[in-house]
Amino acid sequence: MAEEAILGFLQNNEQITDSGQFSAEFNLDHNEVVNVIKSLHAFRYIDVQDIKKETWVLTDEGKKYAAEGSPEVQLFLAVPEEGSISKDELQKKLAPSVFKIGCSQAGKNKWVEMGKQVSRKVKHVEDKVKGQLLQIQEGKESDKDSINSLKARKLIVPQIWKGYSVKKGPNYAPERKKVATDLTRENLQNWKELEFKEYNFEAKGAPLEAGHLHALLKVRKQFKDIFVQMGFEEMPTNNFVESSFWNFDALFQPQQHPARDSHDTFFLKVPSTTRTLPEDYVERVKRVHESGGYGSRGYNYDWKREEANKNLLRTHTTAVSSRMLYALAQKPFVPKKYFSIDRVFRNEAVDRTHLAEFHQIEGLICDRGLTLGDLIGVLKDFFSRLGMSKLRFKPAYNPYTEPSMEIFSYHEGLGKWVEIGNSGMFRPEMLLPMGLPEDVRVIAWGLSLERPTMILYGIDNIRDLFGHKVDLDLIKRNPICRIGI
Ligand code: PHE
Repeated sequence: MAEEAILGFLQNNEQITDSGQFSAEFNLDHNEVVNVIKSLHAFRYIDVQDIKKETWVLTDEGKKYAAEGSPEVQLFLAVPEEGSISKDELQKKLAPSVFKIGCSQAGKNKWVEMGKQVSRKVKHVEDKVKGQLLQIQEGKESDKDSINSLKARKLIVPQIWKGYSVKKGPNYAPERKKVATDLTRENLQNWKELEFKEYNFEAKGAPLEAGHLHALLKVRKQFKDIFVQMGFEEMPTNNFVESSFWNFDALFQPQQHPARDSHDTFFLKVPSTTRTLPEDYVERVKRVHESGGYGSRGYNYDWKREEANKNLLRTHTTAVSSRMLYALAQKPFVPKKYFSIDRVFRNEAVDRTHLAEFHQIEGLICDRGLTLGDLIGVLKDFFSRLGMSKLRFKPAYNPYTEPSMEIFSYHEGLGKWVEIGNSGMFRPEMLLPMGLPEDVRVIAWGLSLERPTMILYGIDNIRDLFGHKVDLDLIKRNPICRIGI
């Protein structure tokens, strides 16, 4: 309708000067006319120019007076033609706001005598305010004075009206040609008669319904790439269930250590114990716990096999490292660089930064004669690839490393040193019972995957990152991960 009217009008006329007037003349909805104008313009059937006009619309109060009359007239009519009415009586006859505004306006107009008694001062009044409001409501022009007084009384507010003036465009035709948009069989058969719609290379494609990587997976990939660039091999971490032996005992962690309590560790009910352990190695581990050896005094307690047999959800990926080092010790020695990134479990109270499960990133290097200097050097290399080049180390304690160091990095954004990981050199009490040569040293470090991910993606509650409360939309919209650039 609107399209025919516009194209038809332009066939015989130079231009449409005002889309608003045009709509009114042809009895068309202006919004519809605007939509058609935009569409015709996009195909260059027409050229357009914006028109902006300030118009006035009635406020709710204005609409009310336009329908019911101004308060001053309502008040005037409530006063008897002859005699007077008490102010109280008059108040009862009118709505509170009408009474209040009516009194002041009718007083100002000198229509009524206001005292304890109210009486008319003139015979007849004209409701100019209502008249002016109706005029605006109907879209007619009003004079400056009435606009100003209605504006001051907050009965009208300005509104920007947008319309267009329209002329023929370079592709003008009295009727829009249907263009083919699809390469269907039929369209290809009579392509000579058809006009095809041009490709719009600027258009956004429809969003693809596809799988999306979780932020943790994206950051994990970056860490993996760094390890691989540094020549590390990935350790097999595909067992969440581990025996206490590999998780703790092999790491020279005494059986009465608080981390081995059920308050800190999840133990399995079924199967509650492991089936097999390498017996001769178990014997050496028992001995080093009880009475030491290899230059150590041990812990001096009765080591219990039942405690070592207990199955648990691994509390750190260092359990995997201990298995790998033991396996390495069973063959002629070759130096190795290993890493792993996988899930671990701890019986923790859940809060903004802790869950009962998280991911650990772990790296280790095993070679003859390594020193603490090597560990510091490797850590500097590793973390500088993550964009963290200001590092500091603080002496710490782990049952399985000596010396041990916490790793701190200067966070430019936070303006302070933040702890980013833990590291150390595995103790001889751990390595020698495995059967590794005496001069072999192992340097190792670990950190969580969640912490850097939360920093990189600006997430401050771990429950927004992992678990059933995660917003899937967020995962779809997360940008690719770039670290260390
Ligand atoms: N396993 C340690 C932890 O759970 C991390 C670590 C790994 C520390 C290797 C030292 C050496 O925090």
